[in-house]
Amino acid sequence: MDYKQLIVDSIQLQGLDKQGLYDLVAAPKDSAMGDLCIPCFKFAKEMRKSPIVIASEIASSVKVGGLIKKVEAVAGFVNFTFDNELYASQVLDNVLEQGENYGKSDEGKGKTVCIDYSSVNIAKPFHMGHLLNTALGGAIYRIYTALGYKSVGINHLGDWGTQFGKLIVAYKLWGNKKDIDERGVRALVDIYVKFHKEEENDPSLSDQARAWFKAIEDGNDEALQLFEYFKAITLKEVDRIYKRLNIRFDSYAGESFYNDKMQPVLDELTAKGLLVESDGAKVVKFENDNMPPCLLQRSDGATLYATRDMAAAFYRKNTYDFDKSLYVVAYQQNLHFQQIFKVLEMMGCDWAKDMVHVAHGMVSLENGSMSTRGGNVVFLEDVLNTAVAKAKAVIDEKNPLLEGKEEIAEQVGVGAVLFGVLYNSRIKDMVFSFDKVLNFEGETGPYVQYTYARCNSLFEKCGEIGKEIDYIGLDNDSCKAIVALLDKYPEILKESAKKYEPSVVTRYAVDLSQAFNKFYFEHKINSEREGIKNSRLILTKAVRQVLSNALGLLGIATPYKM
Ligand code: ARG
Repeated sequence: MDYKQLIVDSIQLQGLDKQGLYDLVAAPKDSAMGDLCIPCFKFAKEMRKSPIVIASEIASSVKVGGLIKKVEAVAGFVNFTFDNELYASQVLDNVLEQGENYGKSDEGKGKTVCIDYSSVNIAKPFHMGHLLNTALGGAIYRIYTALGYKSVGINHLGDWGTQFGKLIVAYKLWGNKKDIDERGVRALVDIYVKFHKEEENDPSLSDQARAWFKAIEDGNDEALQLFEYFKAITLKEVDRIYKRLNIRFDSYAGESFYNDKMQPVLDELTAKGLLVESDGAKVVKFENDNMPPCLLQRSDGATLYATRDMAAAFYRKNTYDFDKSLYVVAYQQNLHFQQIFKVLEMMGCDWAKDMVHVAHGMVSLENGSMSTRGGNVVFLEDVLNTAVAKAKAVIDEKNPLLEGKEEIAEQVGVGAVLFGVLYNSRIKDMVFSFDKVLNFEGETGPYVQYTYARCNSLFEKCGEIGKEIDYIGLDNDSCKAIVALLDKYPEILKESAKKYEPSVVTRYAVDLSQAFNKFYFEHKINSEREGIKNSRLILTKAVRQVLSNALGLLGIATPYKM
C-alpha cells in the first residue's frame, strides 16, 4: 500500500500539485500526532494564504473512511491517522491469498531478457570468482521470471582458445584417463600446470600445442574428440555444482559455438568502413581514441574473445529478440563490454542500448589455507563442502536429534554461502569468511532459515489458526513494522530487478527476520486470548510465506526444522 498516494488521492481541494503534495508527505515528529503528515508551509507563497489556513482547508476536504481513520489540521500541518487494523488485515489477506505468487507481477509480460552468467571456462577450476557470478545470475534470472519476463539463461562457456592445444599435448604426454575420470578438472589442471613448467625447458612443446590447436580448428577427428572429452569432464563437474546451487540454463552456447558466426560480423564491419588495419591486425577505433581500439582479428587471422562476443550479441538478438541482454561478469571486463556495446552502436544497432554489463566485484577467502598447491585457486566445491560440514557441526551441537540432518546441513551450508555472497552490493569486493556467513545470529542465510523454522515451530506449538480473529493483537509497534515490510515486498522485487541487485532481496529477508524475531521476543502468542492469538498466527504465517518466497528467488532452500 502506498500510503502517500492514498493521502494525496483523498484530498479533494482543487489547485494543488499532486506530485508536489506527494513529495511533502512525511512522518510527523511526534508519532502521537498521527502516522503521516503534510507540512503546508511551502504552499503559502503561491496560494497567498497562511499555512494554518491551507492546512485546515486541506484537512476539511479529505474524505475520511476506509484506511484513513482521522485527519486533523494542527499549526500548519495536516496530520493523518490510519486504521492500522484494517490495513493489517488487508495486507495479510493479500499475502496469504496469493501465497507463493505474492510479489510476482506481470510487468515484464511479453518481454525477454537474456542473462549471460556463470560462463565458466572448460578445463579450468570452478572457483570463487565464478561463484558470485553464478549466484547473482541465478537470482536475477528468477527475479525477472517472477516479474513476468521470459528469462533466457546463457552459459557462455569459455571453450575456445590456444590452451586447448596445450592441454592435448599435456594429455598425450602425461595424461591418465582413469585419473581424469576420477578427479575431473583437478587432474586436467595438474597436467596443464605441468605443461607450463616443462615448456620453459622445451620450447618445442609450444609448437606442438599450436599445431594441435590448429588441428581442432581444422576439424581433425582426434583433436575434436579430445576437446569434447575435456568439455564433458568439466561440464559433468560443473553440473553437479549447479544442482547444489539450484542453477539452470536455457543455453550452453559457448565461445566455440560462434566459430562459423564471426565472419559475417567482420564483413559487415568492413562494409561499414569500421574495421581498419593496424599492424596487420584488424581493429575498430573509437572516436577521439577515448577507448583503446577493439581488436577483432589478429594478424595471423585468429579471432578473439571480443569477436566471439560480437557474434554472440547478434545471435542472441536474432534468436531471442531480447528486450534486454545482461552480462553478469566481473568488473575486470568493464572495458571489454564498453567496447562491444560501442561497436554495436557504431554499426547502427539501436538495440545496443538494451545491453547491460552487470558488473560485480571479487571474492577472496579470509585465509589462503584452502588454496590448491602453489596457486591460489580455490575450488568452489571445496568451499561448499566445508560450509556443509560446518553447518553439520552446528546442528550436531545444537540439535543432535534432528531428523534428516545430512540434508538440512546441505541446505544450510549451501544456503549460507549463496546468501553470504549475495548480501553486499554486487560491485563490492568481498572477503569470504565461513564464520561470518554461517553465524546463526548474524545477517545471514542460516539466520533467515532459522526464522522460517521458528514460524513452523510456532504452529506446532499453537496448532492451526482458529476462526475468531481480532486484529487489535497487531496494534503494536513491532507488528506494525512487520505488516509494513510484508506490504513492501512486491516493490522490493521491482527495485532489485531494476538495479540488477539481489542484495536488495537478501537485505529485505534479514530485515523481515529481525522484525519478526523482535515481535516474537516482545509479545506472547499462545497464552493470549483466542482472537489475539489468531491474529498473531496469521502474521506468522504471512512472514513464513514471504521468507520462503524471498529465499526461493535466491536459490536457497527452506528446511522445515533446523
Ligand atoms: N568465460 C569468461 C571468464 O571466465 C566470462 C564470459 C562472460 N560472458 C561473455 N559473453 N563474455 O572470464
